[in-house]
Amino acid sequence: MLNADFECRNVVMIKMRMRKKPNLIPRLERCRDLLAEKPEQLRGRWRELLPGCRGLHLELGCGKGRFTAETAAAAPEILLAAVERVPDAMVVAMERCRDAGLRNVRFLDRDVKDCGEIFAPGEVERIYTNFCDPWPKSRDAKHRLTAPGFLRLYAALLPPAGEIHFKTDNGPLFAWSQEQLRAEGWELREVTDDLHAGGPAGVMTDYEAKFYQQGVPIHRLVAVRTAATLDLGAGAPPRLRDAGLADARCKQGKEDQEA
Ligand SMILES: C[S@@+](CC[C@H](N)C(=O)[O-])C[C@H]1O[C@@H](n2cnc3c(N)ncnc32)[C@H](O)[C@@H]1O
Repeated sequence: MLNADFECRNVVMIKMRMRKKPNLIPRLERCRDLLAEKPEQLRGRWRELLPGCRGLHLELGCGKGRFTAETAAAAPEILLAAVERVPDAMVVAMERCRDAGLRNVRFLDRDVKDCGEIFAPGEVERIYTNFCDPWPKSRDAKHRLTAPGFLRLYAALLPPAGEIHFKTDNGPLFAWSQEQLRAEGWELREVTDDLHAGGPAGVMTDYEAKFYQQGVPIHRLVAVRTAATLDLGAGAPPRLRDAGLADARCKQGKEDQEA
């Protein structure tokens, strides 16, 4: 049975968002060992969850978790925290990890913007953001997970030389994100516009596997936190002007969001 805390906090919130999914709660309950129910209480202490932990990595918007499960399985000494605000997708990711017997992953039913209350400064060594929603309209640019406001949040979570690993199918979003990263003082490495040109490379996400099948090129980069990121990030994030992404893949991204 679910305990009272779980009932109060998670179930009520999740039920409100997921009225059409009556079996969601029992599915979540069966995976609850992998759910960080009160993640704010773990701030600064995440590594204590995994004996012998050698690092904490964070995945933003894990979706159905193909990447989460394979990445966690490949590095059992790294604790992987996966944030996802859609419980319907997150429960699929949790079931995958439970079925694989993984102990080094925790799921957070939260919005990425809340991560400052969940992780202490410098606590996260690496952040993965894979196939984030493109938010193609200029007025929505601040919601992109590579917008300056989010980059400043990540700079606070990462230690010096901490990394963001970013993948997308969306060329205009990739170009725009590089501009924001450079302007915010990040050093860019391993930049490619066709990650799988020489055959499948690295762990694929659910979206990526689908795009790969369709022959859609995948863009990837690693952004490294420098001392400049914190200096540049001290004030209010810049206003984003003319930030629209007009391109066929944005239309596709919108369709994916609505599916
Ligand atoms: C396009 S899907 C990609 C899913 C997965 N990363 C993949 O590549 O297969 C984007 C995911 O990010 C989640 N997401 C988007 N913005 C988010 C936010 N601000 N906080 C938490 N999750 C978010 C969405 O719910 C969705 O599951």
